[in-house]
Order: sequence, then structure tokens, then C-alpha cells
Amino acid sequence: MEYSSNFFFCCFLLIIITTTNIRATGGSPHHHHHKKIEVSDYASKPTKLFVFGDSYADTGNVQKSLANSWKQPYGLTFPGKPTGRFSDGRVLTDYFAKFFGLKSPLAYRWMKFGGKKVQNGMNFAYGGSGVFETSSNLLPNMSTQIDFFEKLMTINESIYTKRDLKSSVVLVSLVGNDYAAYTARSGATAQGLQSFIPLVVNQLAVNLKRIKEMGACKIAVTALQPLGCLPQMTQLSSFKQCNATQNLAVNFHNLLLQQAVAKLNNETKDSSIFVLDLYNSFTTVLNQKGDYQGDLKFETPLKPCCMGISSGYSCGSVDGNGTKMYSVCSDPKSAFFWDALHPTEAGWRAVYMALKSSLEQFFKFY
Ligand SMILES: *[C@@H]1O[C@H](CO)[C@@H](O)[C@H](O)[C@H]1NC(C)=O
Ligand SMILES: *[C@@H]1O[C@H](CO)[C@@H](O)[C@H](O)[C@H]1NC(C)=O
Ligand SMILES: *[C@@H]1O[C@H](CO)[C@@H](O)[C@H](O)[C@H]1NC(C)=O
Ligand SMILES: *[C@@H]1O[C@H](CO)[C@@H](O)[C@H](O)[C@H]1NC(C)=O
Ligand SMILES: *[C@@H]1O[C@H](CO)[C@@H](O)[C@H](O)[C@H]1NC(C)=O
Repeated sequence: MEYSSNFFFCCFLLIIITTTNIRATGGSPHHHHHKKIEVSDYASKPTKLFVFGDSYADTGNVQKSLANSWKQPYGLTFPGKPTGRFSDGRVLTDYFAKFFGLKSPLAYRWMKFGGKKVQNGMNFAYGGSGVFETSSNLLPNMSTQIDFFEKLMTINESIYTKRDLKSSVVLVSLVGNDYAAYTARSGATAQGLQSFIPLVVNQLAVNLKRIKEMGACKIAVTALQPLGCLPQMTQLSSFKQCNATQNLAVNFHNLLLQQAVAKLNNETKDSSIFVLDLYNSFTTVLNQKGDYQGDLKFETPLKPCCMGISSGYSCGSVDGNGTKMYSVCSDPKSAFFWDALHPTEAGWRAVYMALKSSLEQFFKFY
């Protein structure tokens, strides 16, 4: 019962927004030339974006001392200096915001009470985090990220209201670090992993349900990317082939995620959670060595642009004298991967192009 009333409120709100905008438009002589279709398009766009996740979504939350993302050469392509993004430029969050015509939301860490920059929503994603504790307890897991958001809605209602959330879109992108932390554990086995996967999906589903109950109407959650294709894995084969064993485990995760999302959507009689298929979009781009339009080309798609010069060093590492201990390719636009784990801006753009039609289908009334 509670769920179905939620659903109706979501629709109800949409109608209110539409009506208000038509009235506002009608009352303003400057807008008289607008076509009717523009009014309804504008009226139903989400007003804000809220993000929970890890380094694929983070736009500057992790402390400077904890991550290479704040060091050169991160941010080389955009905006030209490090901003805490784990890439040479824009990341998933930026492209997802662009789809809705929204500005990329402010990273939570930079929020100022009373500041105006909260109007686009907020990014609570922290690189390195997961649904469970990962490598460092300095990184808020997804539950803690939602706690941060809840505080802005309850303690300080002036920041965000339930209504804001209802007219917003939510992006959830993580769990790669949960598996990295699991495999790094001593005594981790393939069998153990098989039973760990349902625990991760279950915790993710609990978190998604919590966000829905807080009032979110539209949530996009990413399917897990092909971990076996990340440079950290493929360097064993000189960046020639993906690790199929690992991708099998990823497929199992993604299958369980689809089922969990179908169950959540069925409970509410509203398909408000959408699985953003990072697995197929990554593999499509990697197989095609570019985007489908042929604007972007990645000759050696598994090879990262930025690498440590030897093991023990990674992209962004410097020695005690400040000497660079990494190399950067001459053209980041021709590389899919930026570092051992993350796509370049061009990589994300190609992934976004691959995802665009399914985004358009799901968010068709926007
Ligand atoms: C609520 O917001 C005000 C300013 O808008 C700020 O000074 C205060 O610290 C906030 N309270 C909490 C509990 O975050
Ligand atoms: C998330 O982190 C908090 C704070 O460290 C911890 O209390 C909680 O158990 C964690 N949640 C999960 C699901 O691991
Ligand atoms: C693929 O990954 C599995 C599990 O991490 C590992 O045991 C195996 O050695 C890897 N295979 C190759 C060819 O790298
Ligand atoms: C959806 O929910 C109904 C009842 O709540 C149940 O009978 C049905 O099996 C569910 N379908 C799926 C696909 O979970
Ligand atoms: C720093 O440079 C000096 C002089 O070239 C060299 O002796 C020393 O080993 C370097 N230190 C490190 C940490 O590379």
C-alpha cells in the first residue's frame, strides 16, 4: 500500500509541475512564442541529480591526501588540472547529467551551507567505496553516503526536501571495490566469491529500496563493468585479452542485480529503477574499438593511457624528488582506459553513446 501511494504521488507531482509551468509560461509574454511541445518537455525534466557510488561517479569527494585523482596528470583533458575525477577528464556522472540537460552536481565535500551550488543536486560518490567496507574506513560506504543525504533532508530541510527528491533522478554506481576487497582477502576462493556475490547484490538492493522509500521516483543503477577487461587484469596478457573467469563472475552479479531490480519494481507497480548496462556498453566499445558512429577510435582498447613506469608505481606517482614515475600516452582521446581501472573521458563518451538509446527509452517521458 505504501508503495503504490508513493507511485501515485510521483505522477501527481509531475502533473503539478506541468500545470505550474504552463501557467507561468502563459503569464509571461517572453515565452509566448514557445511551442507547446517545448513546454511539456521542459516541464518533465528532472530538476536535480543525486549520485551515490565510487570512482566511476566521484567528481571530487575523496580527500586529496588519499587519492592520485588529485595529482597530475589526472584532469589533463578536462578541465586541465586535477579535480578529483579518476580520469583525464569527465566521468560517468558528468555524461549522465548531460543527458538530462543538468549541470554535473556539486561534490558533497565542497558543499557550503547557504551556498547556491546545491541547486543541481549533489554527488555523494567516493572513489574506492562499496556497499560494504572496502580498503579504508575513511571512505564512506553507500549506506553512509545515503546517511549524508538524509541529514540534508531532515536536519536541514532548507537544503533538500522530499519534493526535490521526487522531481529528481538518482544515479547509483558501485560494487567493483567490494569485489576487489574480497579478492584481496587472504583465503579468498572462487567458491567463496560465488556466495559473496548474492550478499553484495542484496545489500545494494536494500540501499536502493531505502532511496525509493526516501521518495526517489527514478533511479538508475549501473550493472557491473567487465572487471576482467580492466588494465589491472589484462596486463598479465600485455593488454591483449580479458579474463573470462572474472567476467563470468561479473555476469552472475549482473544477473542477480537484474532479478533484484525486477523484484523491487514489481513491488511498487512502477518500473522506477533502471539498470544502466555498463557491462554491455564497455564490451561493445572494446570489441568495436570505438563508438558506433566511428567518431572515437581506440586502436589498442585494453591498453591504458597512463601507467606507472614499473610495478609499484601507478598513474600519478612521483618519487621523493618529485620526478614522475609514470608515462602518459600522446593522445588520451585515442585510449579507452586512462589508468589501471578507469576509462578516459573519450572512453566514457563512447560508453555514454552506447547507453544513450536505452536511456532515452527508459526516461522517455522526460
Ligand atoms: C543548517 O544550515 C545552516 C545554514 O543554512 C548551517 O549554519 C547549519 O550548520 C546547518 N545545520 C546542520 C545541523 O547541518
Ligand atoms: C557502512 O559503514 C558504516 C560506518 O563505518 C558501518 O557502521 C556500516 O556497518 C557499513 N555498512 C555496511 C552495509 O557494511
Ligand atoms: C583470471 O582471474 C582468475 C581469478 O582472479 C585468476 O585465478 C586467473 O589466474 C586469471 N587468468 C588469467 C589468464 O589471467
Ligand atoms: C510480482 O508480484 C506479484 C504479487 O505481488 C507476484 O505474484 C509475482 O510473482 C511477482 N512477479 C515477479 C516477476 O516477481
Ligand atoms: C633524488 O635525487 C638525488 C640526486 O639526483 C638522488 O641521489 C636520490 O636517490 C633521489 N631520491 C629519490 C627518492 O629518488
